[in-house]
Formats: sequence, structure tokens, C-alpha cells
Amino acid sequence: MDDSVCIRFEVIRDECLQGWRSIGTGGFGQIYRAKHKTLGMDVAIKLLHYKDGPASSIQREALLMFQGGNPNVIRILGLYEGRVGEGRGLVMEFMPKGSVADLLQTLAGPPPWPLTFRMTHQISLGMNFLHHLTPPLLHLDLKPSNVLLDDSLRAKLTDFGLSRVARSVSRCSREKDEDDGGTLSYMPPEALQSVNYKASKATDVYSYGVLLWSIVTGKEPYEDALSSLVRFRIPQGDRPDLSSIDPRRVKGLEDMVKLMTECWHQDPSRRPSFLGETRTPSLHDDPTHLQGKSLKEAIYNTIIQLLIYSIIIVIIINDVCTARRLWFPLFV
Ligand SMILES: Nc1ncnc2c1ncn2[C@@H]1O[C@H](COP(=O)(O)OP(=O)(O)OP(=O)(O)O)[C@@H](O)[C@H]1O
Ligand SMILES: [Mg+2]
Repeated sequence: MDDSVCIRFEVIRDECLQGWRSIGTGGFGQIYRAKHKTLGMDVAIKLLHYKDGPASSIQREALLMFQGGNPNVIRILGLYEGRVGEGRGLVMEFMPKGSVADLLQTLAGPPPWPLTFRMTHQISLGMNFLHHLTPPLLHLDLKPSNVLLDDSLRAKLTDFGLSRVARSVSRCSREKDEDDGGTLSYMPPEALQSVNYKASKATDVYSYGVLLWSIVTGKEPYEDALSSLVRFRIPQGDRPDLSSIDPRRVKGLEDMVKLMTECWHQDPSRRPSFLGETRTPSLHDDPTHLQGKSLKEAIYNTIIQLLIYSIIIVIIINDVCTARRLWFPLFV
């Protein structure tokens, strides 16, 4: 196949991709890593089940997602059309350090403060960009697994607006009382209490507030609560527990806590907008904790921790494989 064809069209076919490897499964389906032959780079392919509707509306929504020309928003490289899955999906840049959800799990707690502040600031910049596109692009699924990290742990938003084009595979078929892929905890009260609710920018602002809490504490909100209880209690005014955060611990944290409570205000009209993102403590706010050296150190230490974790995983997997090779013949 002529390689130039792969670049000229925004449709990316099987011929352009090689070395497929599954890297995760979410509410919308499977996600793979592969090498884009022409671009010579790794890409992530998110297989989707498009919603029924006129092809033009799907194209329009998908095109809107292509507008992601911002350092804190993932770059969509094209639409996948091929033989894997239902044969359709999105091709985007591959993010080597996974998601913020992966990071919090690996660290078993929050990232170092300078990195926490930088991450939350970058997320708000990405959201500000999406909300100021014409027409605005609502994310509607803002949560730790939808914030990806590049090699230097810079945050980039992904899966923005996906719920408008794609059908969720797991969410409609969930029978167990489980946590809806982690999405439920980030949904605002108005979404949980009215079937006629219309999403707005305030929906994303609410999710951002809960996301701030999640990054600052390194925990999932309402970890031990049943999802039916979460659905019932959030409209009654329950929110993530602030008692575990000591606002005096680091400069800027008090503002961050104030911001999260404003973002998850019960009344959508009283939540701030992302235009106010400058109020998120930024790198310039605190010369002692957040600038230059301490930020670099925080990034370096975190990357080393991730590296050690991945080496341990490789050793464990190798050990399991070796054990299987050695012991399995005895049982057959
Ligand atoms: N572009 C990417 N580069 C690298 N890893 C990715 C990329 N996109 C997703 N992932 C990985 O795949 C995991 C699953 O992502 P996916 O979006 O399928 O599920 P989810 O975010 O948990 O749920 P949802 O379907 O609601 O978005 C992420 O947590 C992340 O580790
Ligand atoms: Mg996702």
C-alpha cells in the first residue's frame, strides 16, 4: 500500500498499523497500542461502538474531537477503520506513563505536592481549552483514568465528548452493584436526580472538583460505598470526605480545597467556570514548594518509582512464567 495514503486521509486502516497489543478496557470498549508504520510512532487505538444515528452527526462530533490542538489535550490522529472489533474507533497519541488513575494506584497515594499542583493546573488548562472551542466541547467523563501522562508526567485530557458519539458497552449491561467504571462518583447531583437533565459546562466543573480531591488524597471517592448509596446520597448533598486533608500541610492547599468545594457546589449556576482556572494554584504561586528544583525532583522521583514498579511487575510475571514452565509438566 502507498504509505502517503495513510497520512493524507484522517481514516487509518489496518495496513498502517502493526504490533497490536491490548492495554486496557474501559466503559466504551477495548484499547490497544500499535505502531503507526508511516508516522513511525506508537499510537493508542480505542475501539468504539458508535451510537445509532446519521453518519453525518457521528462525523461532526468526531471532527470536533480533532480540534484538540492544545498541549493538555490528547491529539487525535485519525479514525480507525479496519477488521479489529466492530471495525471502528479513534486513533490517538500513545501516552507512555498511562493515566492519573494508574499513577495514583502505583504510588498508593497522591503524587508529590509540586507535581499535584502542576497536574491539576494542566487539567484545568485542558478543560478551559475544550470549553472555549466553538461550539464548546463538554468532556462529560472527567476522572483520573481520562487524564493521561506523557514521558515528563505532563497531563493531557482524553475521552472528551466520547459519550455523545459512542455507546458504552459495559455501562448499559452492568448487572452487579458496582461502580460504573468509576464514572458515577464524578457525576453531579443534577445528573443523578433528573432524567431530563441536560449536561452543561457546570457538569464538567463538578467532576473537576471531585478529581481535585482524588489527586490530592490519592484515593477514589466513596471507595467503600455501594453505588446505589452514592446515587442516592450525592443529590442529598454528600461529597468526598475533606477531613483527611490538612490544608496547612503545604502552601496553596487551602486554596485548592476551597476551589474543590466551589466546583462541587449543589447549585450548578454557583460553580466557577474554567475561565477562572488561574485560581488553581499554579507553579508561580509558591516559590519554595513548586518552582524549578522541587518540581524537577518531584518528577524525577515519581518516574523512578514508576520504573521500579514496572521492573517488579516484569520480575513477577517472569517468575510466574518460569514457575509454570518448571511445574506445569508435573501436573499433566
Ligand atoms: N492514549 C493512551 N495512551 C496510553 N494509555 C492509554 C491511552 N488511552 C487509554 N490508556 C490506558 O487505558 C486505560 C483504559 O482506558 P479507557 O479509556 O478504555 O477506560 P477508562 O478511562 O477506565 O473508562 P472510560 O471508558 O469511561 O474512559 C487507561 O486507564 C490508560 O491506562
Ligand atoms: Mg478513558
